[in-house]
Amino acid sequence: MSYKDDIKNFVIKDDPIILAIETSCDETAVSVVRSGREILSDEIISSAVQHSAYGGVVPEIASRAHTEAIFTATERALNSAGIGLNDIDAIAVTKGAGLLGALLVGVSFAKALAFALGVPLVPVSHIRGHIAAAYLTDKELEPPFISILASGGHTAIVNVTDYYNHKILGQTLDDAVGEAFDKVARVLGLKYPGGPNVEKLAKDGKNTIAFPQMLKNYKGSAYDFSYSGLKTYVINYVHNAEQKGENVEKADIACSFQSAAVDVLIDKAFKALKETGYNVLALSGGVGANGYLREKLSERCEKEKVKLVLPGKRYCTDNAAMIGAEGYLQYKKGNFADLTLNAEAVVKL
Ligand code: KG4
Ligand code: ZN
Repeated sequence: MSYKDDIKNFVIKDDPIILAIETSCDETAVSVVRSGREILSDEIISSAVQHSAYGGVVPEIASRAHTEAIFTATERALNSAGIGLNDIDAIAVTKGAGLLGALLVGVSFAKALAFALGVPLVPVSHIRGHIAAAYLTDKELEPPFISILASGGHTAIVNVTDYYNHKILGQTLDDAVGEAFDKVARVLGLKYPGGPNVEKLAKDGKNTIAFPQMLKNYKGSAYDFSYSGLKTYVINYVHNAEQKGENVEKADIACSFQSAAVDVLIDKAFKALKETGYNVLALSGGVGANGYLREKLSERCEKEKVKLVLPGKRYCTDNAAMIGAEGYLQYKKGNFADLTLNAEAVVKL
């Protein structure tokens, strides 16, 4: 019998132990998650320092780093969970979105492991994984709720109507918010990864510059975002000042940009809460690690008596535990792949 035939006969367990693998960008992450909610281990080997000199992730370097790290990360994840390969009930893996070469390392490794162990192979959307991090944070959490998805590749307000159906209320029409952080970081002379460095610099600055308001006369969805204009405005602001020989207060630029980029996320999320009548809000994606966003969001939720599900910073940025959480949901549905599974650079939100 082939693996493809096996799929039809896999038994779906109630409390599966899932080994989850994430290699979409510059983190080789492997985690063991029980029943979709309990993290037994969570390992990350990052190649960020190798990209730092180039001002952004170099796909070729990321792919190579994944091939070098994936065995070690898996061994560590099994050891710290205190389990062996034979205890694994399924392998979940990020199939996209992300860098194709990087994704292929995880997908190929996951396929080989699933085949060798004779267990289901569960393909997972990285984006849905970010949203599912909320289930690891609050073990009692059940949909519906609103999720702010704010990462390096995506920005959206998502109505999580149930475990499987997500309604995108609005999303960015151009750049993602994390991308804007990274590009602003570059023009301010800050190193990759840009987001955390902009946040650090912003702490020394004041919100004194009125950057343009997003989509002011836009007729589309009230939940849509646009970060390209804001980013360009900041870049031009810096260049103009430099050409005139004016002294720019970089910390003020960082602080003003951070407010302009983040405040709108909060406003739109609360608009969604009001419109849907929900009172649970979750934060997801790498920008969710931003201290200013976390603080502002916590204050607003407390004031408006909204329950906030705030994953730890490690579970906002890329990790494999979130892939285990979403992998569990897909496992329960029997959404298994065969060995023809391919990586996808772009997946639908
Ligand atoms: O979710 P993520 O780790 O990867 C993607 O799926 O894209 O998000 C990465 C993005 C990067 O753009 C990074 O600069 C941003 O999240 N980021 C931050 C912070 N930490 C990470 N942005 C602002 N403040 C932070 N502290
Ligand atoms: Zn991500």
